[in-house]
Amino acid sequence: MADSVLRSGIILLLLILLASGGHWKVSASGQPPGKFPIPHSKSPPSAAVVSRLAFGSCANQSGPQPIWNAVIDFDPQVFIWLGDNIYGDNRRPFSVFGRTATIGPWKNTPRFFPSSEEEMRRRYRLAKYQPGYSVLRQRAQHELILLQIIGTYDDHDYGLNDAGKEFPLKNISQRLLLDFLDEPEDSPRRKQAGVYASYVFGPPGKQLKVIVLDTRYHRDPLFSDGSILGESQWEWLANELSGPQTEITIIASSIQVVSNLSATTGPFFYLESWGHFPTERERLYKLITNNAVFLLQRTGVFFISGDVHFAEITRFDCGCEYPLYDITSSGLTQAVERTVPQPFDFLVRLAAWLTPSTMRVHSQTCLYKSCAYGQPNFGAVEIDWDSVPPTMKFEVRTVNGDPANSIEILLSELQPKNNSRIPASKPYQRHCSLEVELPWFRRYQLALTFFGSVAVFVVALTVLVKSIASASKKCVRKLKID
Ligand SMILES: [Fe+2]
Repeated sequence: MADSVLRSGIILLLLILLASGGHWKVSASGQPPGKFPIPHSKSPPSAAVVSRLAFGSCANQSGPQPIWNAVIDFDPQVFIWLGDNIYGDNRRPFSVFGRTATIGPWKNTPRFFPSSEEEMRRRYRLAKYQPGYSVLRQRAQHELILLQIIGTYDDHDYGLNDAGKEFPLKNISQRLLLDFLDEPEDSPRRKQAGVYASYVFGPPGKQLKVIVLDTRYHRDPLFSDGSILGESQWEWLANELSGPQTEITIIASSIQVVSNLSATTGPFFYLESWGHFPTERERLYKLITNNAVFLLQRTGVFFISGDVHFAEITRFDCGCEYPLYDITSSGLTQAVERTVPQPFDFLVRLAAWLTPSTMRVHSQTCLYKSCAYGQPNFGAVEIDWDSVPPTMKFEVRTVNGDPANSIEILLSELQPKNNSRIPASKPYQRHCSLEVELPWFRRYQLALTFFGSVAVFVVALTVLVKSIASASKKCVRKLKID
């Protein structure tokens, strides 16, 4: 009897210890998460170790979304929406001339325009009840399944292509996103200006923090080199990064942090990225290096991002004293190779290969030579906490769940002391040159190749036409003489 009482007592004590050890916490109002823990709607097993996270962006609610089967098969414990979770705005057709010209320097009508609140709500409903996503959401609501769905918006679900702080319907967009994410009614995220939030998962020693940024609500106009986050969010972020150290910190940004592909894809197209706001990006890197409160470097930080309709893994070695990775996954349905008819999709891959990137990580596992993946995809992070030191696998997965790109790193690589161990040769070539620093002929390689090929084609065609014309003339002359 005493033995069983003792055993029950020990079990009870263990349960109490576990219950107090590793709560999942959310903080979204600038307070360190440990200070004002906000109860979440679900109570996942305390002290649960999180070792599988998935993320994705750019999902058109009006078409099929078969990729959810692969996401569910991956069995993530956390799924992070990175924006364009719906396409809420509307697009006018391309029109070069007339009263409604939507492109060109003489453009007089905006190509994109917002929807009404009711229409946005309808589109969110379509997304929420997509067959595959419904299954994932039901799993997230199940008491016994360890899964939490979190996220942020990008421009199209914020309400308008490329929109920032000037967008008049932004408070409605914030509410609609939080409704979509099943955010509790009393959540501080519903009261603050913007949807930024942070979460801490796992027990001490195996803790993982996810910081979700809002890159829209406070963003200054494009090409202004102003602010992306705004002062209130910067203050909050500084608090989050200076708060208690976690083994891993993931910073989720809707737009790419490390890669600035626009520097090499002009004049054909431009993509939004932190690279368009160089002062702001520098501030972000500095905040990781020396946070405002303790002047300590936060270790184990990496970024995840979406937006660009292709996937890549990039790395910047000179942002802080260890490599900063950015795993970009885009999109769940919207992908660049889908924009051209099938026999010509190789042209997109050729363009990707011709476009120089100083940040992209090239590995043997890439499906294509460019290491960019332009078909529907999702991002996956797997952490092996039990290996010594712990390892992390960053992956881009296809619609079938197969890896399209995959790299594995030691968690200890994301610490200053180990940076010197990285040899300055392949496969760990240092990625320190910004795209804008490339020599012009390399930076505009894609445009030079394109216009060069067009010029060669035109010259060849002209020579051919002239040769045929002169041969015909000779023939006619000869016939006349005969
Ligand atoms: Fe998108």
